[in-house]
Amino acid sequence: MKKILMHNKNLKGKTKVLGDKSISHRAIMFGAIAEGVTNIKGLLKGEDCISTINCFKDLGIKITEENNIISVYGNGLYGLKKPNKTLYVGNSGTTIRIISGILSAQNFSCEITGDSSIIKRPMKRIIEPLSLMGANIESNNNLAPLNINGNNLNSISYNMPVASAQVKSAILLASLYAKGKTTIIEKFKSRDHSEIMLNYFGANINVNGNIIQSKKIEKLNAQNIEICGDISSACFIIVGALITENSHIIIENVGINPTRIGFLEILKKMGANINFLNTRFVSGEKVCDIEVKYSKLKCCNISGEIIPRMVDEIPLFALVASLANGKSIVKDAQELKFKESNRIKTITTELNKIGANIIETDDGMIIEGNRTFFGNKCESYNDHRIAMCIAIASLVCKEPIILNDYECINISFPNFFDILENL
Ligand code: S3P
Repeated sequence: MKKILMHNKNLKGKTKVLGDKSISHRAIMFGAIAEGVTNIKGLLKGEDCISTINCFKDLGIKITEENNIISVYGNGLYGLKKPNKTLYVGNSGTTIRIISGILSAQNFSCEITGDSSIIKRPMKRIIEPLSLMGANIESNNNLAPLNINGNNLNSISYNMPVASAQVKSAILLASLYAKGKTTIIEKFKSRDHSEIMLNYFGANINVNGNIIQSKKIEKLNAQNIEICGDISSACFIIVGALITENSHIIIENVGINPTRIGFLEILKKMGANINFLNTRFVSGEKVCDIEVKYSKLKCCNISGEIIPRMVDEIPLFALVASLANGKSIVKDAQELKFKESNRIKTITTELNKIGANIIETDDGMIIEGNRTFFGNKCESYNDHRIAMCIAIASLVCKEPIILNDYECINISFPNFFDILENL
């Protein structure tokens, strides 16, 4: 479906964003293999997390909802049941990759697949380390559908070739079942929600810089989890406020885990007026209220260590860099090619359609600043983050943008347009 986007608007007032997508997936998954009932407050009910819930229901786990609390009736590490159909993850790369670490260690085999985007996304990155641990995974040339035959696992020491929290989490989950001590070495740190939450559930995971060690455990214990607002969703609203004159907003209760706020660090370097208020910890995660005011921004180059800490925000970086003063360069971001769409290509194509001047490179982009945006017809490529980027860009357009296939926004941020309208 098509949508005519709001244009020439600024943002004012207080708001909240829905629960963090990464943390929501993990709360369901870890709750399912814990012993006892895990009650979750603030779970994101976007399509990706619903896919995770459906997979665990198909694996025999009771999951209920009452008064906005989701209860997961955990059946222990070995309590999942063989599903009587193929598990379906929809559009969710996080679900298929992380769950594989659990399924590799069960005493049954099952098949798992997803939508037309999932069956094109690389799975070798999980098949390789899990197979080294003794997993038996058949695939379609390293793509989904995956046939996972549960097995006895052994521990490994693994140097991660790509910075990926999904891969790290799959290995960590397998490590709970694997004889001995598993060591994972990351070149650059990726998001660490699994480490935090698994330890919260009673796992034995030790983090020393970029080296993570995990031991086989007897059980995980169910917990009550409160999920903070999703920083990646908040970043769309933050950019909306930064680029539109006279904007001033506060987004309450947002997660600011250091492995997720690379983009905010870069925005501050570019001159953004962003303040963290009431910093606190909720269920082991750092949380605050974020205040943002319209700011004149200057260019910035990004590469290396910061990339995994802002991996989902790089399309937004391309947008702010196009409006900032000077030329910005993105390097080391080749991982973007393997997201819901090839985000280097899709964001370059769509922003250039509305007046940006971005050149695609092999591992990033060269972004000319000081651009003025105009209205046009844009595509989402069924990629939620590309769709929201275009909607935010339209706030500074003099004429409207018509966005095709905008419904994919429901994947991660179902009330995105309501929040924009309220502000
Ligand atoms: C996620 C990790 C990231 C991110 C994705 C969610 C997670 O992917 O892009 O949206 O929840 O672990 P990679 O770890 O593959 O980079």
